Amino acid sequence: MHHGAFARHYQHGIPIDPIRTVSYMDEKLKELSERRAKVLGGGGPKRVAAQHEKGKMTARERIESLLDPGSFTEIDAFVEHRCTVLGMSEVEAPGEGVVTGYGTIDGRLVYVFAQDFTVIGGSLGEMHAAKIVKAMDMAVKVGAPVIGINDSGGARIQEGVDALCGYGDIFYRNVKASGVVPQISVIMGPCAGGAVYSPALTDFVIMTEKTANMFITGPQVIKAVTGEDVSAEALGGAHVHAATSGVAHLTYPNEAETIAGIRRLFSFLPSNNIEDAPLVASSDDVARIDAALEEIVPESPTKPFDVRDVIVRVFDGGDYLEIQPLYAQNIVTCFARLGGRTVGIIANQPKYMAGVLDINASDKAAHFIRFCDAFNIPLVTFVDTGGYLPGVGQEHGGVIRHGAKILYAYSEATVPKLTVILRKAYGGAYIAMCSRHLGADQVFAWPTAEIAVMGPDGAANIIFKKEIEEAADPVAVRKEKIAEYKHNFANPYTAAARGYVDDVIDPAETRPRLYRALQMLLGKREQGPARKHGNIPV
Ligand code: HXC
Repeated sequence: MHHGAFARHYQHGIPIDPIRTVSYMDEKLKELSERRAKVLGGGGPKRVAAQHEKGKMTARERIESLLDPGSFTEIDAFVEHRCTVLGMSEVEAPGEGVVTGYGTIDGRLVYVFAQDFTVIGGSLGEMHAAKIVKAMDMAVKVGAPVIGINDSGGARIQEGVDALCGYGDIFYRNVKASGVVPQISVIMGPCAGGAVYSPALTDFVIMTEKTANMFITGPQVIKAVTGEDVSAEALGGAHVHAATSGVAHLTYPNEAETIAGIRRLFSFLPSNNIEDAPLVASSDDVARIDAALEEIVPESPTKPFDVRDVIVRVFDGGDYLEIQPLYAQNIVTCFARLGGRTVGIIANQPKYMAGVLDINASDKAAHFIRFCDAFNIPLVTFVDTGGYLPGVGQEHGGVIRHGAKILYAYSEATVPKLTVILRKAYGGAYIAMCSRHLGADQVFAWPTAEIAVMGPDGAANIIFKKEIEEAADPVAVRKEKIAEYKHNFANPYTAAARGYVDDVIDPAETRPRLYRALQMLLGKREQGPARKHGNIPV
């Protein structure tokens, strides 16, 4: 019974406040939709139009096209900046210049943030950074990858140290999340100054050609300090970072292709360090043998071939995604699948600088190997290299220090490690390219493999120097000695006799042999010694 002034109406047992009228809720909802519309409008129609004119999508359009349709849930849309100096109290920054939230790609959870250039140039202030930080913390909590789309004028100048702190907070989380969830940085506009270091701390940097650039100091500063004249594109455009600096892992001609590229990369990756990458059904028979593989390696050990011709013939459906395809092309790093399971492939590329190992190749391979190891992706290595690159430039550039990275990364990796020696495996490069001695679980050699301290010509010149010099017919003796050396060493059987090579296989059988080895290794467990962390040479 309810009486008097305090009488309440009940509906389905829930009290209805007689004071609260329908129009009251209507008003609240109207305010909500007005506020939301403001946020959704970003920097307003003019700035949105300017963004489109540059061939760029808005932050929200990018997120919508990246995620499965209708899957995006935005968080922190109503966050506001707290800056009151330099006229900032008058400045409204809808969404604080960054859109954050979660959604799915192919049904798998992912956290995203996209900087909104239409709002104060996507510049990063205290609260902008706080939104990114919250998204990253949530992603780590639930084991979801983070995809960050960068399009920003950098630290919001008016916010001073608060903006700098924001970057620090993000860098710290990039590092804490490293090896826990995959982190993908996408650059679709300017990314300048210290801002570049967040992408640099993540696993993959993807850039859109022409509209994206990355540099620590821009063209004007460089002109003032060193007098060099350079355009933003020539200094830090997508091509430069893909081919010269190695900062970018993938580049695409426009935003739509960039988005498609992110989704494709994502399909190869697990969500976190305790999950496996998704299994992708393939109609490609794992027992398939391919006689064409017998034709790929030329008779002459110095004649180049494209190692990607091997990769397309071995892995599911010939499909692979090359990472850093334009950088250190003497080594190929790519993702592919074997029996539906993602593998990371590292292959010397005889087509480019004879597949030699150098500073950049070591750097590229080591980063890739460590990513795969952190995220349970088995490694498959194809070997055909004459060794480390000789030269003053390499020595003075620190090939000792940088070349050590590949040894370190392979030795440290505890995922299944499979190696196939195709042709040359000379010297330190034999050891470095995931030999049994660095913990390879299975090593196969094609009959064309040559495992030796060095190539026959160089070796014969050294060990038979005297005989050749003193011979009546030095040319003939040299030829004879080379043949003798080849007979003894330039083959896989000496290594197989020691058990360093598990089997010498018909190239045609490479796919089924690798598949069986991979299946055998799925239960691999390997624990390293207890320690805080190792100290990879950097
Ligand atoms: C505040 C900024 C801003 C910034 C751009 N804007 N960058 N506001 N802080 N860092 C504003 C502009 O004033 C402008 O506002 C709007 O964003 C769009 O910028 P435009 O200059 O009109 O655009 P555009 O011509 O396309 O040039 C883009 C740009 C340029 C090349 C990025 O804006 C620029 O050079 N910005 C400064 C870059 C910079 O030096 N940042 C600091 C880096 S140092 P209106 O109202 O006119 O639309 C750094 C330190 C990090 O980031 C350290 C971490 C450790």
